[in-house]
Amino acid sequence: MKTRVFSGMQPSGNLHIGNYLGALKNWVRIQHDYDCIFCIVDLHAVTVYQEPRELRAKIREIAALYLAAGIDPKVSAIMVQSSVAAHAELAWMLTCVTPVGWLERMTQYKAKAAKQESVGDGLLQYPVLMAADILLYQAGIVPVGEDQAQHLELTRDIAQRFNTLYGETFVVPETSLPTVGARIMGLDDPMQKMSKSASGAHHAVALLDPPDRIRKTIMRATTDSQPSVDMDSAGPGVLNLLAIYQAFCGWSDEQMRSHFQGMRYGDLKKQVAEMVVSQLEPFQQRYGQIVSEPGYLDAILRDGAARVAPVAEETVRLTKERMGLF
Ligand code: AMP
Ligand code: TRP
Repeated sequence: MKTRVFSGMQPSGNLHIGNYLGALKNWVRIQHDYDCIFCIVDLHAVTVYQEPRELRAKIREIAALYLAAGIDPKVSAIMVQSSVAAHAELAWMLTCVTPVGWLERMTQYKAKAAKQESVGDGLLQYPVLMAADILLYQAGIVPVGEDQAQHLELTRDIAQRFNTLYGETFVVPETSLPTVGARIMGLDDPMQKMSKSASGAHHAVALLDPPDRIRKTIMRATTDSQPSVDMDSAGPGVLNLLAIYQAFCGWSDEQMRSHFQGMRYGDLKKQVAEMVVSQLEPFQQRYGQIVSEPGYLDAILRDGAARVAPVAEETVRLTKERMGLF
């Protein structure tokens, strides 16, 4: 039997090249080697307020982006988290074995909580729900970007704690990070990770941005006071542009060095911009085709949920049995 892979993205904000290079691109690459489930985690999105109509549209947009990136729905299951009730059910059972202190230590929680006047309980529970997503399907591998590594460590801790208390129940999953592109930084500020919720007009390249906008954003990217690329002393802005290029084209470090060493920043930016535009163009064309077929997405999401539900139900049954629940 193939090892199961589970990963997901929140249907909030606009997916950007960080999401693609950190996660989605790898999902496409590994989908034939594993038994994959790719989820649209709407219950995670509502840990901060989402306008209901926009959320409903966003869920389908993310599904279409998965497909446009090359996830094959005949091979992988694409599903919406809230369509399988077992995610929330298992989350409660895991909550009961999770110390609050573990959750309060999460850096993403601390960052998000600092921005809110009143912190919803969902924000604290967020990583427990994420653990439930993964453990529900007994996933062995979880391909994500680096910002999720701490949540994955917590998932492992929760699984181990449950297994110790109640007996072997859950597979303890491994984190899979890409070698290049695990943490793409903001183009306007290379000290901050590229984020869907950042407000700067030139912060991110969204996957559906038109070519002119992509070029403008990259040409305005923050670099440093040097005139040209020095691979040995490049600052974070230049390293970020190089990482974007390398993650898109898959070149080795040697190829990158021989091509870019000594190149003026203006030319570097032009080359990065053309690389991103040329990679996103076919992607955007496929997206356009997918959303023009009414009913197609909903059928895929229904099929995905139907395929994964028996696995989820079996894990809930086993967990209840272990805990002595009815
Ligand atoms: P999210 O946008 O939080 O739903 O994240 C979806 C996936 O994209 C997760 O696997 C993240 O780790 C990944 N991701 C988000 N931002 C970045 C980034 N700036 N660089 C690399 N990966 C990222
Ligand atoms: N928290 C993840 C993020 O924001 C999304 C997510 C939810 C996820 N459940 C998951 C990722 C399970 C991997 C596995 O990126």
